Amino acid sequence: MKKIIKGGKIVSTEGAYVADIYIEDETIKMIASEINPTSDEIIINAEGKFVFPGSIDVHTHLSNIGQSDNFQDGSIAAAAGGVTSLINMNDQLEEGESLISHINKWKGIAKDAVIDYSFHEVIPGERLNDKIIKELPSAVEAGCTSIKVFMAYEDKIMSDGQLYKLIREASKLGLTILVHAEEGEIINEMIDEQIKSGKVEAINHAITRPDFTEAGATKRVLDIGDYWNAKMYIVHVTCQKALEEIRKAKMKGTNVIAETCPQYLIFNEEYLKLDKKESAKYICTPPLRKEFDQKSLWKGINEGLISTVASDHCSLDLNGPKKMGEVNFSQIANGMAGIEDRFLLMYHFGVNEGRISLQTFVDLVCTSPAKNFNLQNKGTISVGKDADIVILDPNKEKVISEKIQHQTVDHNPYEGIKVNGDITHVFCRGNLLIENNTFVGEIGEGKFLNRRVNN
Ligand code: URP
Ligand code: ZN
Ligand code: ZN
Repeated sequence: MKKIIKGGKIVSTEGAYVADIYIEDETIKMIASEINPTSDEIIINAEGKFVFPGSIDVHTHLSNIGQSDNFQDGSIAAAAGGVTSLINMNDQLEEGESLISHINKWKGIAKDAVIDYSFHEVIPGERLNDKIIKELPSAVEAGCTSIKVFMAYEDKIMSDGQLYKLIREASKLGLTILVHAEEGEIINEMIDEQIKSGKVEAINHAITRPDFTEAGATKRVLDIGDYWNAKMYIVHVTCQKALEEIRKAKMKGTNVIAETCPQYLIFNEEYLKLDKKESAKYICTPPLRKEFDQKSLWKGINEGLISTVASDHCSLDLNGPKKMGEVNFSQIANGMAGIEDRFLLMYHFGVNEGRISLQTFVDLVCTSPAKNFNLQNKGTISVGKDADIVILDPNKEKVISEKIQHQTVDHNPYEGIKVNGDITHVFCRGNLLIENNTFVGEIGEGKFLNRRVNN
């Protein structure tokens, strides 16, 4: 099928210019100031609109335990939010299961995706052993070139010795190591203290995970990464102190990429003081921080310390895993939904409100994520790349609401926020997936992205 997107303003990390885009099959074949239709092309009028590369969300939790969004629902929601590729956390490695059978199992779970996808192989501390380490090359061969580790959470936490060993072996293969950096042991102690003294409200979630625990873990793991010259990627950076550790590491030459998420830029810990049901929406780890941390994250973006904004999408129902019940803050499932809103939130709070340029925006949500994870055909609009395209009308507005979302979660943490600008069309490899918030694609059209290690 041939298509011409006419007269839109194409945005790249270098600038923005008005041109036509000619798409044949799945690929961008030509970009020129004027492309005349010959016969059977479908014409999409993009005059007065921005034309962005399809966005890439490199941190999602579709089909993880307790999540209401599976790959089908979650990827439709992603598409509605301008996302044309995602990288999901492959959770739940069973005892004795090999990495390759786990990856293959996830290929089955993801088969109904409507956008392109890849995986980060999650290796919980309790599953790390010599057998798993020996199997790392099989993950690379299967196109899964990044692993995710945790320095917090009961069953997932890794000791420094485990981290050292895994990072050593992963770095030899060129794998990227994603790290959830929080000092889990200190945090567990703090949670016990608070609960024993009857402090059970949601704000204690932030009190028991102070910024120094994130910064300390970030420093520890980056020291190990630096020692082995590994490719390190710190997920969901939330605070100034952790950013300072990342700055220091970068200055001494550590190979580190930092990610943050819209929730840490838009919300702060005041949301944890709302009433029980409301505050449960805003429980995520690391927790929402203080206003000065939010400012330092925006600054970190503009200084190039943070190169990616991902959603860390978790679809946890208020009437499900987030139900506080009669217990305490530590029982509320952590994580926030955002796959559908990340793109517009970053456009609105970033570009419209003057915190970042249009070029930085496209870099954060499209171009850098593609580069960081070696998605070679993605992330920019140029000839030969996949025709992954998002058209945004800056003159429309959207009020974010659970009522119009495609995410299947029973609330939306951004409910009622009005953003200036709305997505009108989303194409993944030339296939129209979304037209004015309606899914018009086909289930299972998404492809597994077989990644190679970045050299
Ligand atoms: O609160 C969060 N971020 N939940 C998802 C799991 C994780 O730590 O990424
Ligand atoms: Zn995490
Ligand atoms: Zn996550």
